[in-house]
Amino acid sequence: MDDAPAAIVKAKGGRGAFLAHFFIVLPVVTLCVVVYAPRYFSGPPPYYGGGANDVGGISAPRPSSMTRTSSSSSAHLGGLGYVAGRRDADEDDQQLGVGDGGALPQQVVLDNQVGSPCSSLPNHTICCDRSDYHSDVCFMAGDVRTDAASLALLLFPPRAASSAPEPPAAEERIRPYTRKWDAYITKTIHEVTLRVARPEEAAAAAHRCDVRHDAPVLVVTAGGYSHNMFHVFNDGFLPLWLTAQHLRRRAVLAVLSYSPRWAGTYGEILAGLSRYHAIDLLRDKRTHCFPGAVVGTRYHDYLAVNSTRLRDNKTIADFHDFLAGVYSDDDVRNDKAAGGSSSSRRPEMAWYERRRPRLGIVSRKGRRVVENQAAVAQLAASVGFDVDIMETANGAPLSAVYASVSSYDALVGVHGADLTTFLFLRPGRAALAQIAPLGITMLSRNLFGVPAARMGLHYVQYDVSARESSLSRRYPLDHVVVADPARARREQGKQEWELVEHVYLRGQNVSLDLGRFRETLARIHSRLKEQQQGHASRSSPDASPQI
Ligand SMILES: *[C@@H]1O[C@H](CO)[C@@H](O)[C@H](O)[C@H]1NC(C)=O
Ligand SMILES: *[C@@H]1O[C@H](CO)[C@@H](O)[C@H](O)[C@H]1NC(C)=O
Ligand SMILES: *[C@@H]1O[C@H](CO)[C@@H](O)[C@H](O)[C@H]1NC(C)=O
Ligand SMILES: *[C@@H]1O[C@H](CO)[C@@H](O)[C@H](O)[C@H]1NC(C)=O
Repeated sequence: MDDAPAAIVKAKGGRGAFLAHFFIVLPVVTLCVVVYAPRYFSGPPPYYGGGANDVGGISAPRPSSMTRTSSSSSAHLGGLGYVAGRRDADEDDQQLGVGDGGALPQQVVLDNQVGSPCSSLPNHTICCDRSDYHSDVCFMAGDVRTDAASLALLLFPPRAASSAPEPPAAEERIRPYTRKWDAYITKTIHEVTLRVARPEEAAAAAHRCDVRHDAPVLVVTAGGYSHNMFHVFNDGFLPLWLTAQHLRRRAVLAVLSYSPRWAGTYGEILAGLSRYHAIDLLRDKRTHCFPGAVVGTRYHDYLAVNSTRLRDNKTIADFHDFLAGVYSDDDVRNDKAAGGSSSSRRPEMAWYERRRPRLGIVSRKGRRVVENQAAVAQLAASVGFDVDIMETANGAPLSAVYASVSSYDALVGVHGADLTTFLFLRPGRAALAQIAPLGITMLSRNLFGVPAARMGLHYVQYDVSARESSLSRRYPLDHVVVADPARARREQGKQEWELVEHVYLRGQNVSLDLGRFRETLARIHSRLKEQQQGHASRSSPDASPQI
């Protein structure tokens, strides 16, 4: 899961070529290009398109504190005054999924967000919440049917309402992705139209249901920055989970930019989110009918779940549990992941033994490499760790990555998309040690440090010194780029991100000072041993392990 040179080469062919190769050539999980962008740039949102940025269109969002445009709209179809949804889906589990199509069970609340203009959605309405800086989300309640020809979801009026006043010709358009401030990527996301069916459409046979579903549809994209593991979770699955977990798998995924490779790579996660087959929305020309729809996903923050914004107070630890469930539960998992089960459970049992804490070292390739990795691994062993080198970009299925990482007591690695796997570490027990190269200490902290700490991991950041950076071989030690990266960045003004990208992110390896790094490892090690001892002394000898 490295930002692989192969992706760069492809990108040089231009955006079109790159996008066309997305699923055909690039192994989705294994190639990760760093394309996230920091939120704390000063000044207006820079836009970086073209050139090497084609790899992922790096750009920085405005600081979230800036003024946001806020709007929401509802299209009401007649004054039926019926309010769909008062209770949670999970309270009425059995009542769901038993309808005969066209009717959304009264109890389903499509929007799980606190204070949303769409949280109380009357039947036969469309509601879009466009108030968030990162993403728009639209909801429909009623008789929803796909119109493949126009990539639209049509809302059909109730039959009895034909004499009712003419509904407003409401139409909403939405590109379901979580980076609406990111013009480059947003324009690659298909636009879906949501509208009320016209009277002649309602009468025509052309929109008869070919497939009736008794669960709402959730329209999402498999596109976007889908070649980078950070984005796959940050902009894909975590938002999807945030938006739909309260439906308890009773939602049909209709996927834009769907590919069998994507579905295979993330099969366990998809099965954990929905109990139904996903629909390939661009290729499936049938008319699918649903009792409701959600288009787009919510977004809270970098790899974050803000529990105060969710009606059921879920947290990022719940997302970890979700992942643990899909990769450990034999019912949900598919066969190819079978190898992961036993090893992902083993560490829980072994916790009571006085074993050596297990340390995973993320082995990057190409850039931000630990040049003296072998010595670092030896050092870790001498400190008392059982060391595992976690190879990246080797095509291993995510279930295998889950099995490895969930067995670690600590994960250490240089800043990069692979660290997204901290989501697989056990909250409340494991540690994440991030090695932050020169010039990206805050970026490192914001993208992985803060989220990891929020998940209940012990977070340690090791900021490399100028001498540990390969940049000290390229620049004299008193050059601003190595001597004062913060100033070097400020001095770039609008070109700040270019410096970050080309010099600090892509042009840097590290060679760790073994004396200094030993202290970091030793502190993590002794903390883990204390935890083990505390745990052992709290457990009576015959107590059965609690997980
Ligand atoms: C919403 O409207 C559809 C018809 O358009 C109807 O079949 C369904 O029963 C209604 N839902 C509820 C909860 O009343
Ligand atoms: C969580 O959301 C609430 C409500 O929107 C907001 O006030 C709060 O600052 C958010 N918390 C974090 C940690 O972002
Ligand atoms: C969520 O938290 C709020 C505020 O602490 C509380 O009032 C509410 O009952 C909680 N809801 C659930 C479903 O736990
Ligand atoms: C970093 O290390 C990799 C692998 O050894 C090497 O290919 C690359 O050129 C190095 N980059 C720099 C900037 O030294």
